[in-house]
Amino acid sequence: MRILLTGKNGQVGWELSRTLAPLGEVVTFDRSGMDLAAPDQIVSAVRSVQPDVIVNAAAYTAVDRAESEPDTALAINAVAVGVLAGEAKRAGALLVHYSPDYVFDGTKDAPYAEEDPPNPLNAYGRSKLAGEYAIRAAGVPHLILRTSWVYAARGKNFLTTLLRLLREKSALRIVSDQIGAPTSAGALADATAEILRRHDSAALAKMSGTYHVTAGGSTSWHGFAEQIARLEQAALPRTPSIEPIQSSEYPLPAIRPKNSRLSNEKLFRCFGVRLPPWEACLEACHAQLRQGRPVRNS
Ligand SMILES: NC(=O)c1ccc[n+]([C@@H]2O[C@H](COP(=O)([O-])OP(=O)(O)OC[C@H]3O[C@@H](n4cnc5c(N)ncnc54)[C@H](OP(=O)(O)O)[C@@H]3O)[C@@H](O)[C@H]2O)c1
Repeated sequence: MRILLTGKNGQVGWELSRTLAPLGEVVTFDRSGMDLAAPDQIVSAVRSVQPDVIVNAAAYTAVDRAESEPDTALAINAVAVGVLAGEAKRAGALLVHYSPDYVFDGTKDAPYAEEDPPNPLNAYGRSKLAGEYAIRAAGVPHLILRTSWVYAARGKNFLTTLLRLLREKSALRIVSDQIGAPTSAGALADATAEILRRHDSAALAKMSGTYHVTAGGSTSWHGFAEQIARLEQAALPRTPSIEPIQSSEYPLPAIRPKNSRLSNEKLFRCFGVRLPPWEACLEACHAQLRQGRPVRNS
């Protein structure tokens, strides 16, 4: 199997480089090799690689900046995705693509199912939803994998930021009225590879569609922060207090949905794949992060 992977230096792309490797030949691209803002680069990359599968882990992910750059977000998250989907179809390749919880408005009082009507609250969500539409319109066999609250041991994300703040601050205030499933890039990449490993291209083409892929369970950002602090406690000179606050007390340019929970039942029913609970994913990621770092007070 020849796999073309975009966004190789992103949180998910980095982990996919590892998990996709045993499946065949993986040809990876970063922005310098294929700029999604330049459609001609997408076309020439796909035509030169001639992949069986394209995994698109590249995206415009600056959620708050997208409010002031909606056209850039749309260009990368929708226009480029449409070009990629067209090229995937031309190559006879399966397109695997990621989308967020932010396609929903969060007003449902239960986990969202794939067929629930989307209604994004922010420009990033609208651009990602437009990307989903572009893929479906291209008529290419695809897996749109919607996930939430992605973090990793590297890069800038909630986990790495909180680990810094736990050292710098004596008190933290973290939003407690948004609920979702923190999902490690590693677990998401494992699940993606598992789906591709278990099914041949004919079966995957039959199962073309949208799937929710998050870690198990749910919590608030405040609950996520407390769990990180618990895991990090031994390495901290003192643990700061972590006060729960409302979203309204921490205004950001982009509005976030209050309910980001995504039901993973379809994923399990169709592919037999289920991610571990979010606490276990966090523990694994934290252990990975701690490797090579001296632990104090233990
Ligand atoms: N992060 C989350 O919480 C979250 C939640 C739900 C869904 N998702 C989705 O999951 C996927 C992976 O997200 P992630 O968290 O791994 O994002 P990430 O860490 O921000 O990585 C995105 C990658 O896309 C690349 N990129 C951006 N603009 C590009 C362009 N014009 N041309 C080529 N590459 C470009 C970036 O390259 P540079 O490093 O050069 O900028 C980066 O390597 C995305 O589709 C995202 O929408 C993420």
